[in-house]
Amino acid sequence: MTILFADISSFTKISSSLDPEDTCAVLQQFFSIVDSVIERYGGTIDKHIGDAVMGLFGAPIAHADDPLRAVKAAAEIHEQVDILEESLPHPFKVHIGIAAGEVVAGGIGDDERAAYTVIGDSVNLAAHLQEHAGARETVISQAVHSSVAGYFVCDPFVMPDALPNGQKAWLVRSAKSGLDNAAVEPIVGRERELRHLEALLESARMEKRGEALLIRGEPGIGKTRLVQEFQRLAQQRGYSNHCAQVLDFGAATGQDAIRIIVRSLLGIAETSPKERRAEEIAPLLARGFVGTEAVPFLYDLIEAPAPPDVAMRYDAMDNATRLAGKRATLCRLISDAAADVPLMITVEDLHWAQSVTLDYLAEILDGITNQPVVVLMTSRLEGDPAVGAWRNGLRGVGLFAMNLNPLGEKAAVQMATQYLGKSTKFVRDCITRADGNPLFLQQLLRSADDQGGQHLPATIQSLVLSRMDRLSRPEKKALQAASVAGQRIDQRMLDHLLGASGFDTGPLLDSQLMRADHDDLVFTHSLIRDGVYSSLLKHSARDLHNRAAAFYETRDPILHAEHLDKASDPAAASAYLEAARGALVEHHTSQAMLLVDRGLAVSTTAPVSYALQILKGDIHQAIDQNTEAVKAYKAALELAGPESEKCVPIIGMVRSMRDGHQLKDSLKLLTTAQDIATRLNQPAYLAQIHAQRGNLYFPRGQVDACLEEQKQSLQHAIAARSPKLEAEALSGLGDAEYMRGRMAAANVHFTDCVKLCEQHQFLANQIPNLALRGLTHFYCGLPETCIADCERAIEMAKGAHQLRAELVARTALAPALVEMAEFSRAHVQSQSASDVIEALGAHRFLPQCLAFKAKIAQAGGQDQKAIAFAHDAVRLSEQSDAGRSFTGPWAYGTLAIVCDDDTTRQNALATGRKLLEDGCVSHNHFWFYRDAIEAQLRSGDWLSALADAEALKSYIAAQPIRWAEYYITIAQIVCGAQLEGMSDDRIVQASSLRAAMEQARLQLAVRRLLDDTLPAARRVRG
Ligand SMILES: Nc1ncnc2c1ncn2[C@@H]1O[C@H](COP(=O)(O)OP(=O)(O)OP(=O)(O)O)[C@@H](O)[C@H]1O
Ligand SMILES: [Mg+2]
Repeated sequence: MTILFADISSFTKISSSLDPEDTCAVLQQFFSIVDSVIERYGGTIDKHIGDAVMGLFGAPIAHADDPLRAVKAAAEIHEQVDILEESLPHPFKVHIGIAAGEVVAGGIGDDERAAYTVIGDSVNLAAHLQEHAGARETVISQAVHSSVAGYFVCDPFVMPDALPNGQKAWLVRSAKSGLDNAAVEPIVGRERELRHLEALLESARMEKRGEALLIRGEPGIGKTRLVQEFQRLAQQRGYSNHCAQVLDFGAATGQDAIRIIVRSLLGIAETSPKERRAEEIAPLLARGFVGTEAVPFLYDLIEAPAPPDVAMRYDAMDNATRLAGKRATLCRLISDAAADVPLMITVEDLHWAQSVTLDYLAEILDGITNQPVVVLMTSRLEGDPAVGAWRNGLRGVGLFAMNLNPLGEKAAVQMATQYLGKSTKFVRDCITRADGNPLFLQQLLRSADDQGGQHLPATIQSLVLSRMDRLSRPEKKALQAASVAGQRIDQRMLDHLLGASGFDTGPLLDSQLMRADHDDLVFTHSLIRDGVYSSLLKHSARDLHNRAAAFYETRDPILHAEHLDKASDPAAASAYLEAARGALVEHHTSQAMLLVDRGLAVSTTAPVSYALQILKGDIHQAIDQNTEAVKAYKAALELAGPESEKCVPIIGMVRSMRDGHQLKDSLKLLTTAQDIATRLNQPAYLAQIHAQRGNLYFPRGQVDACLEEQKQSLQHAIAARSPKLEAEALSGLGDAEYMRGRMAAANVHFTDCVKLCEQHQFLANQIPNLALRGLTHFYCGLPETCIADCERAIEMAKGAHQLRAELVARTALAPALVEMAEFSRAHVQSQSASDVIEALGAHRFLPQCLAFKAKIAQAGGQDQKAIAFAHDAVRLSEQSDAGRSFTGPWAYGTLAIVCDDDTTRQNALATGRKLLEDGCVSHNHFWFYRDAIEAQLRSGDWLSALADAEALKSYIAAQPIRWAEYYITIAQIVCGAQLEGMSDDRIVQASSLRAAMEQARLQLAVRRLLDDTLPAARRVRG
């Protein structure tokens, strides 16, 4: 049952300004309005309480549409009270609350008008909602909302106190277009289809199982009509409806079907401006809806401007992360919404959908397997995605495809009789001509008034044309102008196209070729729009599209470009370029790509094509399509006019040429670009050219050459006053110094880089460099700073979903914690590091990770586990040359520490030393020698330990680092003491070393080396 409370706003104020008699009269008028409206909508009056009315819908007989009737009644009450107010000297408004649910009904009380009354929670709720509704507002409960959401635009309404069971309240805004407002004739035929859907609705709701249905058929065959019927059935079964349509033309980003669904799920009003949306959903988010990690993606999906910190994090993500995040957020949104009520999500006209939209839909179908969600889709046969790769790629719930056939004879007759009452020869002719296509039949029947059944046009198009001919010239012109805008046009745009304001749209509506929807005029069917459009002569169409383009120039860059395109205006290509750039700023990558391609298709001038190809290369590169990126940059290079235009495409090409065999070509290209940039004195290009060359040398181990290039890059970046290029060069320099083991120098570069990134908010660059700064702090003997940097980098990386930076930070943090004997914290890090490695597929980091795990296991007394981890580390690093030089000696060193027999230890150490000689990334030198010293001191191999300490010393000779020096000194003191005895000098040395190492928090080494291997250690401590 649905309960409605209507109450006069500030009644005491009104009554105090009137004499009692007038008050009584106003009250009488008010009651008579409310009573009659409620009764007209099939409700009953339960009682009058003071100045309030309580109405019931669904008593004594319940109807499926009780809530809808109640909300419609409320809307009309407000309207009628507005009229009453005009005759009064003071403001007069009502506020209304509506709730629905189980109630106890019966003959309670003896009021003469109430045959019975109701009691229950819903009654209290309705009264409570009404109390908080403002003047001229209707506030409805969750249950009512889910029944009327398809018909009324509603906004979330914040109650001052929480409602029972975490229910939401909603404020009714306005009646929606579509379903109920467009006079929809009763559906004919389609019984089988309807039965099938009823079964789907039941099973989805009862068994909490997702269902997906695609309705396919020719234009005008009745897909949309069937969808409307399905939505009505779904609504009766308590489903909440969310629908959107893919548009073929005139579809700016705001109209994107998926975004419409998202807004609908969140209860964001259709008319809500972008700036207000975040505020509107704040209460939902505060309740934990979708979860905090989804927030950055949600801003993009609802197209609301994000707060600066969120926007910065979002910008720092790569494209794939953003896309995956948005898809996951959509799925989460659906499952959270489906936890309250079953959902029916409708997306119409997939034949016009772009691949992004289809990908989202595939993701939805994959996500709803165990949710009470029905996804309903429609498509024409031409362009049907369900015959292509898309359908084969679907996972999750199976897609059921339903082909819609022409209406049968019986249904057609029934439809005709609905229109014209009886079957005449004209009707029979129409039925034959329409051949079961309901749209055609309907239009033919409508033409009866105009033509008296003279002759029947052969196609919908010719039919539309003949009906158009009955209109006056200005009306016909207006109709044609409207068709240029697409299926929907608003008054402002129509005025603009006609060059005059105040056009009377009445006759267009009377013709039933168009209908009104809020402030818009809408063609009653897209085929009617197509028919009208086809009647335009080429030059008039062009002229109108040009006018439309001018209208959109400052309003919508995409529509601006599309209209110029349709006007065959040569400016279209550069308009597409602008639109694509805008889309890219918003991270709408696939849309940007479509716009670029469209621009290229119409571009007639080299400079515009050049710019479009560059942009195309940049987009491909952003989504890791390197081969395509190279192609686009190459095309741009061929289009380049002056020499100065050659540098950008060359740099782009080299950046995308990831294939190892292309080194020679890449270097040659860079030389060409460098010649040009030097001649033209372009430091920004030079900075990039040197950086690229450095990047080519780096993975080939040519450290000195790499360093030289990065230095040059830095100088040019400073000359170009480009902090971005400067930060990149610093990062490159840090990497190169790291590679050759100059950790202090690397640390300085990373520190400068991070500082610059912080200043200019280059988050994407800041995070990895912060992690590297942390890592190098460790080698410089500053473990605390290392931890602080790494922890911050991890947190930031998680916020921006930068897995790679997170991995660097965790793999730096874990060994630092092991050195500090903080094993449980180290364990957590190594676990998380493995997860990230898995997620990234970055398996070359695995041996490192296993090496820490081995030491952690050993510290926990799990010797066998430690040995197994170390063997795994060795095995994995041995799988490739790259693996060996990246972590081979590191793994062997660890094996030497944890293994329990001399042979294994000695073999491991010998292999590690050999690999170091062959050339390895610097961290291997540090960790191998560190571990070799420990292993040998513990096994009493003093001379070998000393030799390794010497080797480490000479490795760091060029730039000593504190952490390595501690181990060298330990080896010297311990071996000296063991070989020559514990002199007083050594005692002093050992105790100052211990103090320094404790200060540096190298607890593990203090314990395992100083305490355990020094003779008469007690004396040292004492
Ligand atoms: N079974 C039906 N009973 C009554 N009217 C119908 C039926 N099927 C379709 N119609 C009417 O025919 C017209 C065309 O139908 P509809 O818009 O549903 O076609 P469609 O298949 O969605 O076409 P398109 O591919 O162009 O979107 C509509 O006005 C609709 O109300
Ligand atoms: Mg349709």
